[in-house]
Amino acid sequence: MEIFNTQKALRDYLIQPRAQQQKIALVPTMGALHEGHMSLIVEAKKHADLVVCSIFVNPTQFNDPKDLEKYPRPIEKDIKLLEEQGCDILFLPSVEEMYPRTNEEWHIDLGRLDQIWEGAQRPGHFQGVTQIVYKLFKLVNPDVACFGQKDFQQVMVIQRMIEIKDLNVELIICPIIRSEKGLALSSRNARLSEEGKTKALVLFNTLNTVKHAFNENVTPAELQKIAEDMIAADPAIELEYFAISETRTLERAEFVEAGKQYVAHVVVWIEGVRLIDNMLLND
Ligand code: PAJ
Repeated sequence: MEIFNTQKALRDYLIQPRAQQQKIALVPTMGALHEGHMSLIVEAKKHADLVVCSIFVNPTQFNDPKDLEKYPRPIEKDIKLLEEQGCDILFLPSVEEMYPRTNEEWHIDLGRLDQIWEGAQRPGHFQGVTQIVYKLFKLVNPDVACFGQKDFQQVMVIQRMIEIKDLNVELIICPIIRSEKGLALSSRNARLSEEGKTKALVLFNTLNTVKHAFNENVTPAELQKIAEDMIAADPAIELEYFAISETRTLERAEFVEAGKQYVAHVVVWIEGVRLIDNMLLND
């Protein structure tokens, strides 16, 4: 695997494969890689001749400086995993490399996507995400880019950015990779005790129950009640939000319309760890 730390080195390296019409895939990450990230590399390889993975803990998408500081950076382990998976290129820049000017301006009109759910809970987060992903897209100019359904709203935001900026990249949405029992893999899971991990299974169980009921024509309001009751059953779990939304707008669904796709998405806190999960509801 080739490793580049500067934009120039990566840009120069990509000139030749591009001239040879090779297809290039990009998998943006913040490192601390696990099987969820690896599944994106595997998917990327199916669509491209050359897979570029980026590892960059992007400061502009963190609202809490402590969270940014605490973010795990096990780089040697990450490199090993990427090599094992057959990733071709790792882009590993410094903060100065990606943000040479500290006062760089960035704003993109994401409409309501910036204001609801994750947008509401983490002000400025999606501006930071689009700022860095746009830089990476401009640098690599990939044919395809792989993102996880795990961060459902992020995928919608990136899709919106591709449309606004009229970028020529195909977005590939990869399914959520879960533990055997159903806990969505996340670097944050490492901060949970064994008991916490067991408690966290309530997310998958709730989403499954809701999906089943959705397909039995239970109304969104009743589904909401079912989910809230399941989560409230354990006082050690704090619900931040649960919602059923139409996938395109992510607005809360008051009723279900034929031909539209729906998603249930949820955030809870367990042992001081914020856990996010979602499930598509239509069969
Ligand atoms: P990060 O949290 O490192 O996630 C990188 C990619 O891995 C995202 O597309 C995310 O949805 C996906 N992913 C994480 N856990 C997953 C799982 N269990 N199953 C499937 N995919 C999973 O998301 C980011 O980084 C950043 O916001 C980034 C896009 C890199 C911009 O900085």
